[in-house]
Amino acid sequence: MYQEQVNPTPYVAPVKEPVLDYDIWLSQQPKKPSIWTKLLSLRPIEEEGDLVIDHAYDGIKELNNPVPTWFNVLFFGTMIFAVSYLFYYHIGGYGDLQDQEYEQEIAKAQVDKAAYLEKSANTIDESSVKVDKTLAVLQEGRTIFNTNCVVCHGDKGQGIIGPNLTDEYWLHGGGISNVFKTIKYGVPEKGMISWEKNLNPKQMSAVANFVLSLSGTKPAGAKAPQGEKYEAKNPKDNEMKTAKDTVRKEDDAKK
Ligand code: HEC
Repeated sequence: MYQEQVNPTPYVAPVKEPVLDYDIWLSQQPKKPSIWTKLLSLRPIEEEGDLVIDHAYDGIKELNNPVPTWFNVLFFGTMIFAVSYLFYYHIGGYGDLQDQEYEQEIAKAQVDKAAYLEKSANTIDESSVKVDKTLAVLQEGRTIFNTNCVVCHGDKGQGIIGPNLTDEYWLHGGGISNVFKTIKYGVPEKGMISWEKNLNPKQMSAVANFVLSLSGTKPAGAKAPQGEKYEAKNPKDNEMKTAKDTVRKEDDAKK
């Protein structure tokens, strides 16, 4: 900067470049054809004379233009595709055919369906529980009953510490939702456990259905009926009687 102030560079007028003529400019351009021209297989218009086919109809002449590259690429591409497709799916058997794909999707749907049913089963509560007498459900219920309930209710539901489950008399109401409710919440002060934490809703509904299926079996050594006779007046009768209402007659007598 300082040097520049002391010794300024002298001003040099810029040299004007001569203006090119268009033809000269064109001849200076690289002669390589562009990709676009190659793709379309375009021939320069100067070569048109070489392409004219030797006949003329009504004075109309035809040019023997080469087939464009893009067309050839597509055309041979379809052949290569067809061969590899045939090999991949039909000869080599690497890909899944329609039928196999269909079966796979059905299998997947079944898995999803099972998962959905499992999920919806776990949302069962006393208001949505349904009477279900299917063999699978009752068998599941029997297994659960045998492992959990037999100690107090007897192997046939005849009653030991717990009441007889086979008669029409119920301390806490019969019918699927009452029984489900008793099983779910239990009657802790009377020795009936709340099963909510040990059994999932589906299991509770299965065992409730199993308990109901015992009704009227009249097993040997059955405990005397306790509670009130339950008549399904209203199948949606969800009202659970509190423990107080169901104090046994004997208990009353003792006082
Ligand atoms: C520890 C003993 C015991 C076990 C285990 C037990 N219970 Fe009970 N259960 C009782 C007693 C005691 C009562 C009576 C409650 C009352 O007096 O209010 C009862 C009542 C019931 C009632 C109501 C009966 C009625 O008359 O209303 C049902 C239903 C029942 N139990 C089902 C089951 C099921 C299902 C299981 C197994 C998952 C089970 N219990 C396991 C002791 C038991």
